Amino acid sequence: MLKSTIAPVLSSLHSKTKSDNLLPFKAAAFCIALPKSTSTVRRNASTNTSTVETPSYKLPPASAYVHLPFCRKRCHYCDFPIVALGSTSTETADDDPRISNYIHLLIREIEATQTHFDQHPHLETVFFGGGTPSLVPPRLVARILDTLRLKYGLCLDAEISMEMDPGTFDAQKLKDLIGLGVNRVSLGVQAFQEELLKACGRAHGVKEVHEAIEVIGSCGVGNWSMDLISSLPNQTQEMWEETLRLTIEAQPNHVSVYDLQIEKDTKFGSL
Ligand SMILES: C[S@@+](CC[C@H](N)C(=O)[O-])C[C@H]1O[C@@H](n2cnc3c(N)ncnc32)[C@H](O)[C@@H]1O
Ligand code: SF4
Repeated sequence: MLKSTIAPVLSSLHSKTKSDNLLPFKAAAFCIALPKSTSTVRRNASTNTSTVETPSYKLPPASAYVHLPFCRKRCHYCDFPIVALGSTSTETADDDPRISNYIHLLIREIEATQTHFDQHPHLETVFFGGGTPSLVPPRLVARILDTLRLKYGLCLDAEISMEMDPGTFDAQKLKDLIGLGVNRVSLGVQAFQEELLKACGRAHGVKEVHEAIEVIGSCGVGNWSMDLISSLPNQTQEMWEETLRLTIEAQPNHVSVYDLQIEKDTKFGSL
């Protein structure tokens, strides 16, 4: 198992998704990403002719990453740029001015972002990353999507992904998000053992993990992935095997396994 990386070290039960082209930019609230392309010269062996592809920096953006940096509490391993809302429950997050003020500024930032292109094709992917985007009320997610639609256009079949944490959404909330166009869910499970979740400082337990998987299934989300962390303190081989078994039983379309990275200025970093 690889050490010292938070890039996925194992991925994809089925196929890679469009969002794999997008990096979670750690510090930016909003990023647009270029379509994948290279400036290499391709030589056609049979005709001996060459074609030069357009360098990606000359192409208009195809993807947007939107950072929604709110969590109920900070996990003991995590150094992502987030705001821990404290004891705020999912319900009261609905009216939390820290969230609505941020979305207000985010929308202004999207509107003010210059692309240097008069015309561009509609966005193919949008990725809501965090933080815990599933804490954000759907009516505010709707405002972000409306702004992106107006500014860049959104393909009718755009892949719209959201990182969601167990215990922060129920069937009604997920249905509302699906109604807005969210069609891919990335569920942060990390582990299936109560003691490991607790030791990580997660804001949810195993019960919420199973409930979240159940809700994703009952709402008919056809494209979802699961995040796990390996090499956690006191994680035995039996625990890891159980985690993998339960993951396979849940049948996500994609699995990202991150080997624990100890970051300084986190609780794990100070142990
Ligand atoms: C942007 S984070 C958070 C998404 C979501 N809030 C959650 O907790 O599941 C995406 C993933 O990065 C991984 N991660 C974050 N910090 C890590 C660390 N220090 N070591 C290993 N994995 C980490 C976790 O698996 C997490 O699900
Ligand atoms: S919920 Fe996710 S983003 Fe928030 S602190 Fe935990 S790992 Fe980091």
